[in-house]
Amino acid sequence: MKKIIIRQYDPARELEWLDVHASVMVDSAAWWTVLHKKPRYDQPVVDLIVLLDNRIVGFIVVEINSSLIPEHNPAGFVWEFGVQRDHRGQDIGAELIHEAHKIMKRKHNIAKSIWYSQEPRAQQYYRRLGMHEVGQHWQFSIEPDEEMKKQFKRDGFDCWNLRGSCAVEDFDRVSSRFKIIQDDDTLKPRLCIGFEYIPADIRDSS
Ligand SMILES: CC(C)(COP(=O)(O)OP(=O)(O)OC[C@H]1O[C@@H](n2cnc3c(N)ncnc32)[C@H](O)[C@@H]1OP(=O)(O)O)[C@@H](O)C(=O)NCCC(=O)NCCS
Repeated sequence: MKKIIIRQYDPARELEWLDVHASVMVDSAAWWTVLHKKPRYDQPVVDLIVLLDNRIVGFIVVEINSSLIPEHNPAGFVWEFGVQRDHRGQDIGAELIHEAHKIMKRKHNIAKSIWYSQEPRAQQYYRRLGMHEVGQHWQFSIEPDEEMKKQFKRDGFDCWNLRGSCAVEDFDRVSSRFKIIQDDDTLKPRLCIGFEYIPADIRDSS
């Protein structure tokens, strides 16, 4: 089997990275919008790519202490993680996670990563790796009703749909109040599950 190389993302490869990202998105419900530019983050990132024959076949982007992470609980927030379809099932994902954690520990003294996903197969994969569930919420889009449309229109905004989330226990209430979009596979409601992870070797070395 050919050897993969994991290295830092190189901005000169942005279009190739976006190509691979778009291809990974096609059969995963983890994303609901396409990326046209590689996102930038406020905090430092661990930003890795997997190369096979000098082509990108996987990626991970972890933002250290992102604004979504509480100050008292330092961690890396995982924004992007994927392996190209033809190269799945070879533990490349696990190698990427392992390498990202080694760098988080060495450069930032951070042991924990935080993951959120609305893709059931990814959730199952995270559980299988031994990640610990930290929360759940629903993510969905709604079609504004006539009253909301009129209100927006007064300010010149023609609203097509709105996107947001709610606590699991509020979903029935939200569903009865708003017209949730169900017939669009990309936008329909999905249960997003949060996980935290400290790999055993990182925990043992602390
Ligand atoms: C999740 C992912 C990065 C794992 O990488 P990998 O190198 O293929 O990992 P492995 O080969 O060790 O494991 C394959 C796992 O991926 C899962 N998987 C397979 N196809 C998938 C898909 N289209 N979407 C999500 N997960 C998928 C499988 O369920 C399998 O998990 P299991 O062994 O618990 O059943 C890779 O499957 C992937 O890129 N999936 C699509 C993108 C995605 O959903 N990323 C997570 C964003 S939160």
